[in-house]
Amino acid sequence: MRVLVIGSGGREHALCWRLARCPSVKALFASPGNPGIASVATCVPAGDGTPEDWLRVAESVDADLTVVGPEAPLVAGVADCFRAAGRVLIGPSRQAAQLEGSKIFAKQFMKRAGIPTAEFRVAASEAEAREALKHFGVPVVLKADGLAAGKGVVVARTAEQAEEAATALLSGRLVGPAGSRLVIEEYLQGEEASFIVLTDGRRVFSFECTQDHKPVGDGDTGPNTGGMGAYCDGRILSPEQRRQVLERIILPAIEGMAAEGTPFTGFLYAGLMMTADGPKVLEFNVRMGDPEAQPLMHTLEGDLAEALAASARGSLDESLLRWNGQCSVCVVLASEGYPGPPRTGLPITGIEEAEAMGAVVFHAGTRRTDQGLVTAGGRVLGVTASAPDLPGAIERAYAAVRAIHFEGMHYRRDIAHKGLKRW
Ligand code: AMP
Ligand code: GLY
Repeated sequence: MRVLVIGSGGREHALCWRLARCPSVKALFASPGNPGIASVATCVPAGDGTPEDWLRVAESVDADLTVVGPEAPLVAGVADCFRAAGRVLIGPSRQAAQLEGSKIFAKQFMKRAGIPTAEFRVAASEAEAREALKHFGVPVVLKADGLAAGKGVVVARTAEQAEEAATALLSGRLVGPAGSRLVIEEYLQGEEASFIVLTDGRRVFSFECTQDHKPVGDGDTGPNTGGMGAYCDGRILSPEQRRQVLERIILPAIEGMAAEGTPFTGFLYAGLMMTADGPKVLEFNVRMGDPEAQPLMHTLEGDLAEALAASARGSLDESLLRWNGQCSVCVVLASEGYPGPPRTGLPITGIEEAEAMGAVVFHAGTRRTDQGLVTAGGRVLGVTASAPDLPGAIERAYAAVRAIHFEGMHYRRDIAHKGLKRW
């Protein structure tokens, strides 16, 4: 089949890298793609990013299957637009994508479906926020309702911080109109984990559990980023915890969405807090994670394209996919200044050497010029390596990282270290 991947980051490079290895894929396209993706797929320019425009791109390459990387096209209704035109796309409808597009929708849905999550209140004005805050101690968490590219969540440590955050969010100063309504919720304690499944609306294939590293600095210090690295490891969850996540969260979510007339198809990502009372949902995303996709795609076996096409048609066969049992670690190499405005345009060296050591280097923010490959974003590369055990995967990933250089490059030195206690 002819497959199109929408997006241009490390997650999309990882998806393309995996799809390019599928026997069922005869031609692979990405829009807009990036220089790394260009080594496994044909990159096609994107237009204005509307659903109609993505449909035009899919028609121009005659895609039998379109896979959406980021959330924005899904929340804008790209799946509905493709469905109306009779073109196959894997991803939820605009209505179902509200699980990520509106935190208020997600929280109210979880309440109706009995899915464990933090206690919460909704506020649309400063007076309502003040009233809501009375019901919680500190720390307390304030979240913009709408899409905010990871910048819409504030963990307030004091009452003053909480009031300031409410003002900053509601005024539009922090994340614009996405903050015009807020979820204010109980602070949960525990270890975070990402649990991602592929679903056709009824059946489920569970990817191995992963952990992201959002703060920029070692030991989870400094400002949050889009993710400085991720790893997958079968030991993150015990078999009992895994059963709880499936039975209390994933299956009720999929059954609940179907029962409410908004069936969910595609990748469902549950951001979890593993609390003393069991797993609770911090957030749902309606797509693959970035950088979680990088270790997941590196260790996935089977024909992903066939599994995605079957899911889109409502007949997922879970046996099409399996995890190879290895641990995998992705270390993100970032530009100077990131997560603030990054310095870009700097030459990158050492990717071939890193790959000769057995790692795969996924591109996130790179650009091909006459002078060679240069940096073109905050997160530049995701160096990914696997091994039968976690210490081995960490060792391989960092050995490859040391082969790569660009001016001002920084990365976390402790990706996956929180998993070492389980080995
Ligand atoms: P979210 O975008 O909802 O995943 O939130 C971003 C980050 O904020 C999460 O990865 C957590 O580290 C933190 N966070 C969100 N909600 C809570 C909560 N209820 N309790 C503690 N930390 C939270
Ligand atoms: N890694 C977090 C996300 O994809 O939202």
